[in-house]
Amino acid sequence: MKILVTGGAGFIGSHLAEKLMEADYSIVVVDNFDSFYSENKKILNILESFKLTGEFENINKINEKEKKLNHLKNIISDKKYKLYIENICNMKNMEKIFMEERPDMVINLAALAGVRPSIQNPLKYQEVNIQGFLNILELCHKFNIDKLIQASSSSVYGNCKDDIYSEEARVDRPISPYAATKKAGEEMGYVYSHLYKINMIQLRFFTVYGERMRPDLAIHKFIENINMGNEISLFGDGNTSRDYTYIGDIVNGIIASIKYLEVNKNVFEIINLGSSREIKLIDMVRTIEKELNKNAKIKFVEKQAGDVEKTYADISKAKKLLKYEVKTDFKQGIKNMVEWYLKRKEVNI
Ligand SMILES: NC(=O)c1ccc[n+]([C@@H]2O[C@H](COP(=O)([O-])OP(=O)(O)OC[C@H]3O[C@@H](n4cnc5c(N)ncnc54)[C@H](O)[C@@H]3O)[C@@H](O)[C@H]2O)c1
Repeated sequence: MKILVTGGAGFIGSHLAEKLMEADYSIVVVDNFDSFYSENKKILNILESFKLTGEFENINKINEKEKKLNHLKNIISDKKYKLYIENICNMKNMEKIFMEERPDMVINLAALAGVRPSIQNPLKYQEVNIQGFLNILELCHKFNIDKLIQASSSSVYGNCKDDIYSEEARVDRPISPYAATKKAGEEMGYVYSHLYKINMIQLRFFTVYGERMRPDLAIHKFIENINMGNEISLFGDGNTSRDYTYIGDIVNGIIASIKYLEVNKNVFEIINLGSSREIKLIDMVRTIEKELNKNAKIKFVEKQAGDVEKTYADISKAKKLLKYEVKTDFKQGIKNMVEWYLKRKEVNI
């Protein structure tokens, strides 16, 4: 089975690609190494997954982005893994890739992923997250690809009043452009699934953390700043909470979704992938302090527009359909992430 993974150089995508290679799938990664955060971090994501981190020093000596990425492609050349540096919004070039590769399944993780920056740049989010996904849907239709997994997000729940967020809840009150693009993706996905019989799972990820975590996200920033002795800003009074989900559990959930699509027909499912536990912001900071053995210098600041009060996943559907299990507790996940962070700090610029 050949799987095309968009966004495969990113946080979740690079872990997924690594696991899929281990499981002997053929994979095609499409990623434009978007400038949302440094291309070096994404190059390192891929090198780490090939256990070739030592090559980074040489790659980093090359100044031009294109040459750098071509050098990366040469290093990781493997018959089970192919990397295309391409933008999912470029329909003409994407069509060439689909024509050349003829994947059996597509997993669309490419997106602009930050909540707050989407308020500053809604048009760009619309372009990548909605137009880009529509291109993927069109190409699945055109090339008769009948299996698709799309990354949705817990942000579609907005400030949902329910105690626990179930897929049955009404979710038509997103509070950021990012959340609205993910909701639009769920609906456009349904249209294509209905019209063209594309078997589809839309996974609502709940705040994913762990090794290779995006640098713009709170846990990553806090680990970095507490380690360096810098002040950290906590938005609100520290009592907002998130259902943090360890990267290993998320990847297992995606792989279970692949297996589900391999054996089931007429599928359109929206499924929460979370941990079903609420962790308060202040408790997250205390866990990091303990792991780094350093005290945080905390400044409490006003809550930001677009941020939800809490997220809390009902994961009974994932358990039932995918046999999904949460295997990593929060403390262990933070321990793994801190160990990774300290190692990567040695090689990263
Ligand atoms: N990390 C989380 O907590 C979380 C939570 C909910 C949903 N998600 C969703 O999961 C997916 C992966 O998120 P992530 O945290 O790994 O983010 P990430 O930014 O690390 O990965 C996204 C990847 O997509 C690539 N990309 C962006 N625009 C592209 C384009 N136009 N063409 C090709 N590639 C492009 C980026 O270069 C990057 O490598 C996203 O769709 C995101 O919205 C993530």
